[in-house]
Amino acid sequence: MPNYLESAVEIAREAGALLAGYFERRIGFELKGDYDLVTEADHASEALVVNRLRSYFPSHAILAEESGLLDTSSEYRWYVDPLDGTTNFAHGYPVFNVSIGLARAGELICGAIYDPIRQELFTAERGAGAYLNGRRISVSRVTKLEESLLATGFPSRKRHENLNVHFFHQVAMFTHGVRRGGSAAIDLAYVACGRLEGFWEFGLNPWDIAAGALLVTEAGGKCSDMRGGAFDIHGPHLAVANSNVHPQLLDLFGEVFAGRYRFPLPQMPVPA
Ligand code: IPD
Ligand code: CA
Ligand code: CA
Repeated sequence: MPNYLESAVEIAREAGALLAGYFERRIGFELKGDYDLVTEADHASEALVVNRLRSYFPSHAILAEESGLLDTSSEYRWYVDPLDGTTNFAHGYPVFNVSIGLARAGELICGAIYDPIRQELFTAERGAGAYLNGRRISVSRVTKLEESLLATGFPSRKRHENLNVHFFHQVAMFTHGVRRGGSAAIDLAYVACGRLEGFWEFGLNPWDIAAGALLVTEAGGKCSDMRGGAFDIHGPHLAVANSNVHPQLLDLFGEVFAGRYRFPLPQMPVPA
């Protein structure tokens, strides 16, 4: 059987080096839709990844962010985010990555996330664990939500309809804090290696999630939707955490979905 992970790693490293070159040159961006940025680097990285996957695995399907679905009748499907963290990238904020995941018959089987700034390569294979630069990683052992550091994100599309600020406020009040790093794949990789206890977001796409979700489960963490339903790469929201914190996070989310706030939103105007 071909070594799919080795191919994903080779391609992610090359695409990451390409992104790092563009990053040094501080290129401009365009808008796709009202708020969603895209750069020449997104397109160049995607062309590299997709062309290479097509040459190595011509029968496989590929779903890539910028070019959409290359469908085949194959049970194998690659998920490609050629530049996760485009808004960061376009502003010179050094948090972005290439994310490549592979599913067979709908089940994620391997994934690679490469951060070229920190030269950190996160990899996972179903049943074989998760790794950072070749060393085995696992989720953190923190047991209490109130002692956790979490991350979330806010999608650029349909941002006015997004309810996440309510969840953000409750989690931020109850925990050590919430980070908003601007790269969902890095957030997921950081849960897998224990730098964060958990992460959630509404409206992610399969290419944001594929490699990172496998990393989290292979590192011993839990993936579900925010209501506790089964993980679905096409689902409307995602909640991942170490297995201690995951049920506590879902309890808090359940309260927010029901409109019961542990911490009422402060009233405006701000008192003097
Ligand atoms: C975005 C990032 C961001 C998340 C957005 C994603 P992109 O991906 O992962 O952290 O909040 O929802 O769309 O557009 O930079 O590939
Ligand atoms: Ca993305
Ligand atoms: Ca992207």
